[in-house]
Amino acid sequence: MTVTIAPPSSKQLFSEFWWLYPKYKNKTTLIADGSIRTGKTMWMSLGFVQWGTHEFDGQNFIMAGKTIASLRRNVIVPLINRLVRLGYRVKDKQSDNCLTITFGNHTNYFYLFGGKDESRQDLVQGITAAGCYFDEVALMPESFVNQATGRALTVPNHKYWFNCNPAGPMHYFKLHWIDDLKDKDAVRVTFNMYDNPILTNKEIEDAKNMYSGVFFDRYILGKWSSSDGVIYPDFSKDKNMIDPADIPTDLDYFCGVDWGYSHYGSIVLCGYSENTKKVYMLNEYTHQYKEIDYWVDVALKIQDKYGDIPFYCDSARPEHVARFQEEGLNAINADKSVLIGIEKLAGLIKSRRLLVAKDEAKTTTDTDEDSSETFLHEIFEYVWQKVKDAPVKEHDHVLDALRYAIFEYFKERESAVETYNI
Ligand SMILES: Nc1ncnc2c1ncn2[C@@H]1O[C@H](COP(=O)(O)OP(=O)(O)OP(=O)(O)O)[C@@H](O)[C@H]1O
Ligand SMILES: [Mg+2]
Repeated sequence: MTVTIAPPSSKQLFSEFWWLYPKYKNKTTLIADGSIRTGKTMWMSLGFVQWGTHEFDGQNFIMAGKTIASLRRNVIVPLINRLVRLGYRVKDKQSDNCLTITFGNHTNYFYLFGGKDESRQDLVQGITAAGCYFDEVALMPESFVNQATGRALTVPNHKYWFNCNPAGPMHYFKLHWIDDLKDKDAVRVTFNMYDNPILTNKEIEDAKNMYSGVFFDRYILGKWSSSDGVIYPDFSKDKNMIDPADIPTDLDYFCGVDWGYSHYGSIVLCGYSENTKKVYMLNEYTHQYKEIDYWVDVALKIQDKYGDIPFYCDSARPEHVARFQEEGLNAINADKSVLIGIEKLAGLIKSRRLLVAKDEAKTTTDTDEDSSETFLHEIFEYVWQKVKDAPVKEHDHVLDALRYAIFEYFKERESAVETYNI
């Protein structure tokens, strides 16, 4: 597939060639942060290889992403395409996760790492490298960054290249690198979406509609903002609720489960319509002081009505998940990643692609006496902790169940599409 490349914007050009600018070429570090989809990865990764190849021969380099899989997918595959077109020779020894890259009479070795892949962290200790490239550094632990940058300290003219989207203001990368540019001998370039020449105004507007609250500040405005206040600020009773009569019938059903006893437990029933591309939250079953037998009963009734649908469960109680499975329920451990789960749900709410049935919570199971409109109570009360980038653990029972359901459902759909494309 041929990709048309537009002439880079001035910030894109800078992140590729800063090491040639007389004013900056003696700096050790480049940091590019800011909005999503601005070309940071595309231009920095190319610049990194060009710099390494131009300045060194027979050296090692470190290239790191959040995981090796995401690094390969987002960075290495498009990078190799471009390098080959520019006349570089690239050998990808997948078993060693090492690229051998040759241009002219220089050959160098680029080792790939996942900052979050614990097993790779030890390996980085064995290498001496002339430079390190970190893609999405804010998603990697500081220990990994310190280890990797330490591997280059002894090589003259080594350089560090970082890019990321902002996280919270107390994040180590903000405090120890961005706020310390002088000591780190670093130059920083901040991107916004207008720095990518191929994005149309419509695409920028669409992206703005996908992110809400703190995620809007970080991913669209590119600010290191703290999470503060209500977690789902865009939820509107007018715009995110729907009359049950208006819900389409072509739904693909699934459930989320948050276990509880003294805290409320909750099962939410959702449906996705391929036609409208919207998720409908049809019902919640939220109760206190109910044993697992009760939840099995609720889930079996749902299964009777909607078939063998998935129940995406809180994995914190494996014995409950196992019990569901023993009862013939399609119980699956959900991915509980809090921030990206919230980001997904917040985006659906903002774009009005999550609609809650108006009388949900009125009809629960035949057996209950104590059903409550818990969802509506929680959605306006669920708030961020003051300093930490995490929710206050209150008013979160239905919302956790809903987050597990939605995040896991879309994750599975999206990975199914990816596999299909391959
Ligand atoms: N000058 C350009 N010409 C053509 N395509 C471009 C150009 N700049 C960026 N792109 C494309 O824009 C998209 C976003 O670029 P890239 O992934 O490098 O952005 P990013 O800033 O790293 O985003 P994120 O912060 O989300 O990781 C990619 O598909 C990339 O190929
Ligand atoms: Mg990127």
